[in-house]
Amino acid sequence: DLPFAENYKIKMVEPIYRSTREERENWIDQAHYNLFNLKSDQVFVDLLTDSGTGAMSDRQWAALMTGDESYAGSSSYFHLKEKVKEIFGFDYFLPVHQGRAAENVLFSVLVKAGQLVPGNSHFDTTKGHIEFRKATAVDCTIDEAFDTNGMHPFKGNIDISKLKAVLNEHPKEQVPMIIVTLTCNSSGGQPVSMANLREIRQVADQYQIPVIFDSARFAENAWFIQSREPGYQDRSIREIVSEMYQYADGMTMSSKKDGIVNIGGILAMRSKAWYEQASVYNILFEGFVTYGGMAGRDMNALAVGLDEVTSGVYLENRIRQVHYLGNKLIDMGIPVQKPLGGHAVFVDAKRFLSRVSKEEFVAQTLAIELYLEAGVRGVEVGTLLADRDPQTKENRYPKLEFLRLAIPRRTYTNNHMDVVAAGLKNIFDRRDSIARGFQIVEEAPIMRHFTVKLEPI
Ligand code: F0G
Repeated sequence: DLPFAENYKIKMVEPIYRSTREERENWIDQAHYNLFNLKSDQVFVDLLTDSGTGAMSDRQWAALMTGDESYAGSSSYFHLKEKVKEIFGFDYFLPVHQGRAAENVLFSVLVKAGQLVPGNSHFDTTKGHIEFRKATAVDCTIDEAFDTNGMHPFKGNIDISKLKAVLNEHPKEQVPMIIVTLTCNSSGGQPVSMANLREIRQVADQYQIPVIFDSARFAENAWFIQSREPGYQDRSIREIVSEMYQYADGMTMSSKKDGIVNIGGILAMRSKAWYEQASVYNILFEGFVTYGGMAGRDMNALAVGLDEVTSGVYLENRIRQVHYLGNKLIDMGIPVQKPLGGHAVFVDAKRFLSRVSKEEFVAQTLAIELYLEAGVRGVEVGTLLADRDPQTKENRYPKLEFLRLAIPRRTYTNNHMDVVAAGLKNIFDRRDSIARGFQIVEEAPIMRHFTVKLEPI
């Protein structure tokens, strides 16, 4: 048997700079210990996000050239609309400039002050758009997701009894929708099973509540169903996706992830009435209904990206690389969210740096250590991201504090993954010498993690 190898070769390269520790010490200080403030050329391996950072294929680049930039009625729009119908089955589609724009437009139609939106650990922009409308996101994720060592195969699942409790306690007028995030980013890129999606649909029908899928990583979710859920081994990714979306009334999608494009998003739905209302907001916030903030060429590249992500061995290439890094860390004894997810490796910062308190931002402390050690930029998914409670203004301490190492699609080689692992191992070996973290100097009232200024304690 021959070893596995990627089914693509590299046609174009972009140089990256390998800095010294001394340079990085200066840069992170100038960046106020916020990794978002670093310049990209101050980073060697950038695992800040897998969003918009992937490498397009030659077919996608070719599709750019044939984009139709007409303001109204662009052929690129109709092309993408057909692809959305073919893959997800929705008749009504609005292009938007990225995922949070789809949330903004849809929630402008559906979400009112005082309402509740249950789901599986909503992503921060989703929660932000709910809270901005003075509504509340209720996390109904299964408890198993919060034990990083537990091997539950679908830690993105919604706990049906938690969901029913919300629906029993509140009239349907108070619950505009259930949001299911595929895969669940906040709990570690963890998938939702088909059985769970089916059950959510049944509950939703019983209580007459619409179901929306946050679809940023829908194809990775389908891959986990194919590889882990009994009965799906012989079904194609396309078939699995098509069944998944039978259980939804609509979708929002950041196409910067599983669309493998650098910018763009999708809002799609079954209801004509929603579409008509959403069109008004799309025109107001995004652009006319046939471009919605996307260039024609970008819609073309996205249509090809949706094809690639759902066919051939793309997903195997992708998830193998994430698991290559994850398994290396596991072999080194480094605590990570298990089983490994689809787009990132989530390092359990509380267990890694057990001497640093949550009040001193333990996951951010680990992120800064890794940057200093190896020039690798990850991102904190912990107390900084969780922000303050909108009512009490107190810090919200999430159950888990992660350093997320998100892997861009088709961008880095496994040699880069080796650098990341070696950097973390060096820190792990001296973890007992790290006892203090950071304190906030300045922060914004919402989504503070992007702009917060910190200083070492
Ligand atoms: N939903 C999920 C599950 C996401 O992960 C993201 C973005 C969004 C919605 C919003 O999409 O950025 O296109 O507006 N996640 C990125 C990340 C930023 O790094 O995980 P957007």
